[in-house]
Amino acid sequence: MEHATDPIKTVMAELHARDAADREKDTPQAARLRAIAPEVGQLLLTLAIATRATTIVEVGTSSGYSTLWLATAARQTGGRVTTFEVDPSKLSLARGTFATARVEDVVELREGDGGEGLTHFVGRADLVFIDSEKDDYLRLLHLAVAALRPGGLLVADNLTSHADALVEFRAQALAHPLLSGLVIPVGGGEFLAVRL
Ligand SMILES: C[S@@+](CC[C@H](N)C(=O)[O-])C[C@H]1O[C@@H](n2cnc3c(N)ncnc32)[C@H](O)[C@@H]1O
Repeated sequence: MEHATDPIKTVMAELHARDAADREKDTPQAARLRAIAPEVGQLLLTLAIATRATTIVEVGTSSGYSTLWLATAARQTGGRVTTFEVDPSKLSLARGTFATARVEDVVELREGDGGEGLTHFVGRADLVFIDSEKDDYLRLLHLAVAALRPGGLLVADNLTSHADALVEFRAQALAHPLLSGLVIPVGGGEFLAVRL
């Protein structure tokens, strides 16, 4: 029996291939998708389903690759992903991604600063994923902690791949009195913590 192809998986594979090719060619950062590694997507999916996360917030959409993993989880949990992006070219790319993958029912793409966006979720986000500019992570750390409900999860990408830029974030995140977490060797190195 033939199975219909899942549009999410098809779009994910295309974006992953494009990102990998751009990295190979050394395409300038601004033109790249800068997507998470697939195993980070699998981690996000697993965490979101295991914790029945319904209010999911992402800072840094780019092409929407990581959002598709979160959207897959949201489909399972009956939840919704709100994702923030500042770059107009990435916003238009992400709009195309979400339309082609047919996830517009579970994804809300918002134009603007994710830090400001987080202030609209105070105390009620189940999962926050930070994947924007590394020099902005410290500001986002405090806004994300405020957005999370107790028991909610914070995940931040690139702790190992961008270790130098994230020294202060790592120190403050690991010592944060309202978080209990660690850095795990998945993809670019993920900070994973629960809001106490
Ligand atoms: C590493 S890429 C995100 C990749 C994406 N999470 C994925 O895995 O497919 C970082 C993105 O964050 C966006 N960005 C930078 N600062 C931001 C901010 N303050 N709020 C929202 N997005 C931001 C950038 O324009 C860029 O597209």
